[in-house]
Amino acid sequence: MNEVGVIILAAGLGRRMKSSLPKVMHPLSGKPLFLHVLTTARRLKPDKVTIIIGHGAEAVKQAYRNDDVKWVVQEQQLGTGHAVLCARNSFGEFAGDILILSGDVPLISERTLNAIIHLHRKRNASLTLLTALLTEPRGYGRVLRHADGALAGIVEEQDATDAQQEIEEVNAGIYLASAPFLFSALGKVKNHNEQGEYYLPDAVAIALKQGERVATVKVDDPREVMGINTREELAQMEKTLQERINRKWMDNGVTLRDPNTTYIENDVVIGKDTVIGPNTHLRGNTVIGERCQIDGSAYLTDAQIGDEVHVKFSVVMTSSRVAAGAIIGPFAHLRPGSSLGANVHIGNFVETKEATIGENTKASHLTYLGDVTIGRDANIGAGTIVCNYDGFKKYRTKIGDRVQVGSDSTLVAPISLGDDVYVATATTLRHDIPAGALAFNERQERVREGWTEQKRAKMKGIKK
Ligand code: UD1
Ligand code: CA
Repeated sequence: MNEVGVIILAAGLGRRMKSSLPKVMHPLSGKPLFLHVLTTARRLKPDKVTIIIGHGAEAVKQAYRNDDVKWVVQEQQLGTGHAVLCARNSFGEFAGDILILSGDVPLISERTLNAIIHLHRKRNASLTLLTALLTEPRGYGRVLRHADGALAGIVEEQDATDAQQEIEEVNAGIYLASAPFLFSALGKVKNHNEQGEYYLPDAVAIALKQGERVATVKVDDPREVMGINTREELAQMEKTLQERINRKWMDNGVTLRDPNTTYIENDVVIGKDTVIGPNTHLRGNTVIGERCQIDGSAYLTDAQIGDEVHVKFSVVMTSSRVAAGAIIGPFAHLRPGSSLGANVHIGNFVETKEATIGENTKASHLTYLGDVTIGRDANIGAGTIVCNYDGFKKYRTKIGDRVQVGSDSTLVAPISLGDDVYVATATTLRHDIPAGALAFNERQERVREGWTEQKRAKMKGIKK
């Protein structure tokens, strides 16, 4: 069986995006456009992958750090044909077929790519191209056919006559071609056209002229081959993808109370019988267990959530873990490195960061827990602050099992509280406390009877 190589075109700036970010780096469902294409391509297990980069080359490379692809820089963007020719050296003596994909056509499916490979082999073709029927073909190259339906060539919109512009069959910009044919044909492509570019689709005309076998595959769902050229197209595609992802999770047994305002990124995983409320964002590599409840207005990025967790209204969570049965929020902020044990309760206006919290421990109100390790079955009272920063360095706080921290206490790190410590209300602690001890600050409580009346009398007559 013939080997398959892949070339992904990603060197263009994308002028129509009006952006300083290269087009293929614009995120779709949280991931740069070209990474969607690369992910799909890699599922075919190709023998080689070359990515053509140019604008923002360094940034594009940084977005994918594995070494299973070759990067080729196209210094000047002289056209798609020139871009593919830049990959020639990276393919050496490769005699298999090369699949050419566009970094700005992110929804192409593995199924369609397999159909192209299948037909290409069946027809023993030198070149197979993917086409689509679009009711609004504007912006795409049009497919020219003879009266008998046989392929005649491709014309770019800028070069097309008025009559040709009426054609609804378009070039999807995705091709499979035998490597030796491809590189020799591209050597013959000229830039005598409206844009002064070396067009990759001209390889089709060359193939036909040389009497090579050329096949075409028409895509079933034209949405797969939508290219992104403008911000509006990007927004529309985001919507299309969101609907597709939401449908998938509903099919898998997840309730979305308002799919229109539920934003689930591509790589998120959700367990069944989980119920997700409106305006929820599940981002990055977030994983949510079964039978969870997310009330709404949640913004979770790279969160790992066990089964039966209740995320109440308005919670922000980033790079954090929450074990089964925990209750978080409303209005809680779990910052990176928070790791909560089973059945932990984190209540309103509680912020955690680099915090490991043992099972059944509760911090229910108005608390900052940064750079801490807390044991199990502890209770952190309202208004507790862990003072982890002295303006120069961050320090850790350690709190043992079953510790009770009274409301309005401040723990000045570095500090360690042993198991079963009891901290009295409104205590400031600067030293380690041994297990089982009570810790409190000496403070005299004073009462001045009648004070309020005297004060008011004195203030009378002073204008507000
Ligand atoms: C291209 C096709 C068009 C097709 C459409 C499908 C050409 C000349 N036209 O048009 O027939 O209908 O795709 O989406 O091929 N690129 C480079 N180097 C370059 C130029 C482009 O790497 O010198 C990359 C771009 O970054 C992009 C891809 O190639 O990822 C396609 O280029 P683009 O300019 O978007 O081509 P279209 O005008 O969409
Ligand atoms: Ca394009």
